[in-house]
Amino acid sequence: MSRFLSPAMEAVTPYQPGSQPQNTQGVVKLNTNESPFPPPTAVMDAIREEEMRLHLYPDPCCRQLRQAAAEAYGLQPEQVLAGNGSDEVLYFALRAFCDSGRPLAFADVTYGFYSCLCSLLGVPAHIIPLRPDLTLDPGDYCGLGQTVVIANPNAPTGIALPPKALARVAASNPDNVVLVDEAYVDFGADSCLPLLERYKNLLVIRTFSKSRQLAGARLGLALGSPELIEDLDRVRTSLNPYNVSRLAQAAGVASLRQHRFFEETRRQIIQCRQWTAEQLARRGFELTDSKANFLFARTDAMPGPELFRRLWQQGVLVRRFDTPSRIGDWLRITVGTLEQMEKVLDAVDTALKGEC
Ligand SMILES: Cc1ncc(COP(=O)(O)O)c(C=O)c1O
Repeated sequence: MSRFLSPAMEAVTPYQPGSQPQNTQGVVKLNTNESPFPPPTAVMDAIREEEMRLHLYPDPCCRQLRQAAAEAYGLQPEQVLAGNGSDEVLYFALRAFCDSGRPLAFADVTYGFYSCLCSLLGVPAHIIPLRPDLTLDPGDYCGLGQTVVIANPNAPTGIALPPKALARVAASNPDNVVLVDEAYVDFGADSCLPLLERYKNLLVIRTFSKSRQLAGARLGLALGSPELIEDLDRVRTSLNPYNVSRLAQAAGVASLRQHRFFEETRRQIIQCRQWTAEQLARRGFELTDSKANFLFARTDAMPGPELFRRLWQQGVLVRRFDTPSRIGDWLRITVGTLEQMEKVLDAVDTALKGEC
């Protein structure tokens, strides 16, 4: 770090993304919950078509994309805001609704970026422990009088709450925004989108990185009341009015229209998740009830760090977290193709037999 860095920035703990080896040959990369499938042809065609216009700035208002999202989710375009990944949308939300006197409440075991954003923006983090079985008690968030963010399904546990539990949280915090991060909702949980009409303090965050094969394009959405969207847009236009590239906008529009491909790929992931979970359970693993495109698993047979190391030695890259320490033995394994999951199971068997 240079001597010019501000003390405030020096105190920030940056987010540690899962490693992204650029040469993935021979690596089974299951550490950042990407889709194992490339984007569909129609999305690739839309990107190629848009390349011709790269000398021009993109539409700062993402009109076509917001229209397509509104159609896909049964909303009005004024209820949609697009971001450079949902991480950026989360930044806009914290900048808009929290500050040094207005904390953000979230679980101790959840998406690590929430605490990084708090640290960056000087927002106090009100960390609420999950129950010992890693489920979230919605009652802990009722009547808090604070901005809340809940990932549903949660990451890295994959455990989902029913929308009525989140409706309780929104209803009991009428003067605060409740953010529901639905990054993984397409893999088997119920969305809170139908609650938007009733709860004007609810904001749903979505991403194209997990179920829509566009992690590399960087595209996320906020969905909520026109007033909340206007607040986010105030931050967005003050920071980076052209925040979503032409290619990402074109890809997003095409992706939202690919219903069959979307349904088929998510069906395959759900099926493969169930099969892999059964296989791991047969080998004595403890698993959470994941409704996401990853499994969260541990075994008494080997400490998590050791199993992680032995899998990596065999070219299988998964994710492990050191904090909080109670999840240090758990591994988060992205659900890939059946072929990839067979390789994971082979590597697990080899590791547990002590053959590597
Ligand atoms: C719960 C959750 N929310 C948001 C994100 C960010 O996704 P992106 O910025 O790629 O849209 C992730 C990424 O892993 C996540 O796990």
